[in-house]
Amino acid sequence: MKSIKLTKQINTDFLVLGLAQNNGKLVIESGLTKFDEKKLLVVLANLGATGNADEVVKVPHTNPQTIIFTGLGKSNKTYGHETLRRAAGAASRALAGQKSATFALPILNSQDLAAVAEGAALGAYSFTEFRGSTLKDQKTPLGDSEILSKLDSIEAKNAIKRALVLAKNSFLIRDLINTPPSHLTPSSFAIRIKKIALTLGLKVEILDEKVLKSKGYGGITGVGQGSANPPRLLRISYKPAKARKHLALVGKGITFDTGGLALKPANGMEAMKCDMGGAAAVIATVLAAAELKLPIAIDAWAPLAENMVSDNAQRPSDIITIYGGKTVEVLNPDAEGRLVLADALVRAEEVGKASGGLDGIIDVATLTGAQVVALGTRTSAVMTNDLDFSGQFLSAAAKSGEQFWPMPLPEELRASLDSPVADIANIGDRMGGMLVAGLFLREFINPQTPWLHLDIAGPAYNEGEPHGYTPVGGTGVALASLLCLLESVASNK
Ligand code: BES
Ligand code: MN
Ligand code: ZN
Repeated sequence: MKSIKLTKQINTDFLVLGLAQNNGKLVIESGLTKFDEKKLLVVLANLGATGNADEVVKVPHTNPQTIIFTGLGKSNKTYGHETLRRAAGAASRALAGQKSATFALPILNSQDLAAVAEGAALGAYSFTEFRGSTLKDQKTPLGDSEILSKLDSIEAKNAIKRALVLAKNSFLIRDLINTPPSHLTPSSFAIRIKKIALTLGLKVEILDEKVLKSKGYGGITGVGQGSANPPRLLRISYKPAKARKHLALVGKGITFDTGGLALKPANGMEAMKCDMGGAAAVIATVLAAAELKLPIAIDAWAPLAENMVSDNAQRPSDIITIYGGKTVEVLNPDAEGRLVLADALVRAEEVGKASGGLDGIIDVATLTGAQVVALGTRTSAVMTNDLDFSGQFLSAAAKSGEQFWPMPLPEELRASLDSPVADIANIGDRMGGMLVAGLFLREFINPQTPWLHLDIAGPAYNEGEPHGYTPVGGTGVALASLLCLLESVASNK
């Protein structure tokens, strides 16, 4: 989205209004505007409009030329932020191809305004980098948005600025996920991010395969050794002078997961281009935090590798040594995410300790198919060693509109990871596989450090229909929640 601004009048040909329903009766939610509602309601009824969420109905009109009714569900005195965000997002998607539109939705305060701005911005996305002859048939995303509102406080203006930063960095995640592994390798991922990070004045460190091997990063090295595209460890540091807290974020960065010698079936393997979604999310978070100048120090870590099949790939039964010395028996080379994360988690804590200790460490990963089985494709999982920290995260997530749900780390499952030959095996009980993966990661965390493990396997990549502000393909999930968490941590609540 090029721009969003506040307006007190309609200056565009396209106007977005809300449509709700109450016991089968349609209700127009027109924000500050006034129309001949009776006539419009007849037209809407004739068109079969319901006002349900994700329904968008375009009605021809004069001045403005077209009204776009976006579904708000059941009519209410006030609407939830996520209801507004999704409704604005669905309208924004339906406005692809248009230069500008005005959003007149029920906005009562600057938080409602933020939600509408975020939805409008997040819905204006397309990915056309690899279109050739079909590029001309693609609609460009909605260009500019005006939001009809009486608000013009600093708070309101900040909400709009924040929405644009959120959308820009969400689009970075989506772009990285949508970029195929032919064009996104560990090295090109790192270089692409380095360029952006340097423009924001952030510190960048990239360890290549030789350094990784010599310094003992056995997880990243082991997973990456089967690929012609060697692994990297990328670190982006943001250290504002007035930092109140220090967090480390670690994201799984598998640029493609074939499963290695535990080769995945061809059917659906293409979705494994999303397996760097955690890395993209933590990088986008530190970039957004820097752009918004949040008073909190962040180290974002992206262990990047491609999990391939070759004569040099890890074999089931291989033993590797994670950074810091723990040995792992690699029983299943398809459980690769936890191996690269283990290296990065240990290193992140080491670096954090050297600069006075971490207030928390968060890993984000498309880690297990079991996550998708348990929670479906739209709800992510949170596991933790610190219920206060996860509570704080869950309220931040709820505020952002993203769906996260707490999951346990049952002690009795830990023994299933015991290995007869190494310190630990990389797989355990198949039942509760998401939790077993969490228990594996916990072995590489200092028990004193508040830790969150976010498994976003399902929500990172939308293989279904677009909905709300979410497109097909990479979704950008976790950024919005992490940003709200950082704001909450920074404000000491
Ligand atoms: N990248 C996958 C998990 C995944 C599945 C992400 C579906 C997104 C959608 C991960 O590396 C994996 O292969 N996990 C295995 C672990 C198993 C071997 C213990 C799985 O879930 O099957
Ligand atoms: Mn795998
Ligand atoms: Zn994977």
